[in-house]
Amino acid sequence: MESKHSLLVILVLWLEVEGAPPKVCFPQHFMFGVATAAYQIEGAWNVSGKGESIWDRYTHRHPERIFDHSSGDVAADSYHQLREDVRLLVELGVQHYRFSISWPRILPMGLSNDINEDGIRYYSELIDELRAHRIEPTVTMYHWDLPQSLQDLGGWTNPIIADYFLDYARVLFDHFGDRVKVWFTFNEPLSFCHDGYGGLDAPGANSSGFEAYLCGHNVLRAHGYTYRLYQQSYRHHQQGVVGIALDFAWLEPATTSEGDQRAAETARQFRFGWFAHPIFSSEGDYPPIMRVRIDEISKRQHFPRSRLPTFTPEEVALIRGSSDFMGLNHYTTYLIAQGDGKIYPQPSFNTDMGVVTTQKQEWPKSNSTWLRVVPWGFRRALNYIKQKYNNPPVFVTENGISLERSNRDVRRVGYMASYLSAMYAAMSDGCDVRGYTYWSLIDNFEWRRGFSERFGLYDVDYSSASRKRTPRMSANYFSKLARTRCLPDSWN
Ligand SMILES: *[C@@H]1O[C@H](CO)[C@@H](O)[C@H](O)[C@H]1NC(C)=O
Ligand SMILES: *[C@@H]1O[C@H](CO)[C@@H](O)[C@H](O)[C@H]1NC(C)=O
Ligand SMILES: *[C@@H]1O[C@H](CO)[C@@H](O)[C@H](O)[C@H]1NC(C)=O
Repeated sequence: MESKHSLLVILVLWLEVEGAPPKVCFPQHFMFGVATAAYQIEGAWNVSGKGESIWDRYTHRHPERIFDHSSGDVAADSYHQLREDVRLLVELGVQHYRFSISWPRILPMGLSNDINEDGIRYYSELIDELRAHRIEPTVTMYHWDLPQSLQDLGGWTNPIIADYFLDYARVLFDHFGDRVKVWFTFNEPLSFCHDGYGGLDAPGANSSGFEAYLCGHNVLRAHGYTYRLYQQSYRHHQQGVVGIALDFAWLEPATTSEGDQRAAETARQFRFGWFAHPIFSSEGDYPPIMRVRIDEISKRQHFPRSRLPTFTPEEVALIRGSSDFMGLNHYTTYLIAQGDGKIYPQPSFNTDMGVVTTQKQEWPKSNSTWLRVVPWGFRRALNYIKQKYNNPPVFVTENGISLERSNRDVRRVGYMASYLSAMYAAMSDGCDVRGYTYWSLIDNFEWRRGFSERFGLYDVDYSSASRKRTPRMSANYFSKLARTRCLPDSWN
């Protein structure tokens, strides 16, 4: 670390002597910010009327499924550290803060007959505190913490949940819409449907290729309804925008062979098109390749109907175009090769997709098994979105890296510098990128990885009662970026 750092200093000095390279600056209204999510930071899981979420239930019942057997019961204690968190945001000089609202903190049983006044108070105070410091609140309605009472009805696999989500959204628009102008309905439906209903994230249904598709279907319906509700009843007087945050790792063909090229495109349609195509394509509905493959494989597995549900024509129309911009979470890249074409009796998303996914060993690692540093993939992902979906406005809602605990996080600064340069290159290619959000403001509960993986610009000391926050080198870098909107040329 030490020697790398001195190298940097030498490089910076050399650049000063040789004449600095042209400064990389983003447009004047470009928004820099940082993100968090309720369950990952708030704690206070059972106070002041909050209901139980599926992550509360899951971490309590299955500590063995969490890397360090931890839970988000206290997490970074942001419920009690609201002013401290806003102080950090002010220190960073960000233009926006992306946080999520806990559905069971607002509606303890999930339904809008019983509104928890303390939940309304907490988010109202956060929003007011942000606005008092001229930081735009950009708010995610659902970042994975479903009320447990709704999971008891089947959660996202039960079609009725689209109505309940709409009721919840109405409560949010009614209470916060006067002050919140940027809404994201869902964070990463691929992740919570594929890993939650299709795998072992909460609720841990582990039903790949089946419940995962039911989840995706109802999430898309709920999203469409919510967008139309806002359009019809709120937009006129609240003047905000509504979108969705999709996760898209770039998927590069493993070789130049035609089979691998085709496999990579199939994988993009399954992992990204699943949610992007119904909302952002001009045709709407599921990607044709998903429809064809899942229908065919379901038939060969002797299912009387496809495991991928079907939208009515009204639903296709409702969902198509139901987003004012695309929220994009991007971290890494995978290589995709053609699969062996084998079909097993057991439903599986991977069998349906039919590809082999790897990462190159020489790509630099992070502290997360799934995340390697591949900045050029970001540029390709952005160009793919531009080309496939008619260049929608893109708001980068997450990008970041986990590293082992250290406040001299030179590699995090390097990650940001390289990914921001790739994003800048994509903008020079004509991609319409409007904002960038680093994940995350502070270290937090990283789902099944517990507290073992740290993404924060600020370190959180989990052994201190107040969960003391300390800025890392990357916080200093990010504050220069956010204040000047130019890539800083010195790193500390
Ligand atoms: C809340 O949960 C904590 C454990 O995290 C427990 O000690 C406490 O008794 C609970 N409080 C209530 C009001 O249930
Ligand atoms: C999850 O499903 C896989 C594939 O069907 C199975 O091998 C595994 O044992 C399941 N895990 C749990 C914890 O149920
Ligand atoms: C991340 O760091 C933690 C703490 O040092 C360690 O226990 C864990 O194995 C690491 N995980 C990965 C994927 O490197």
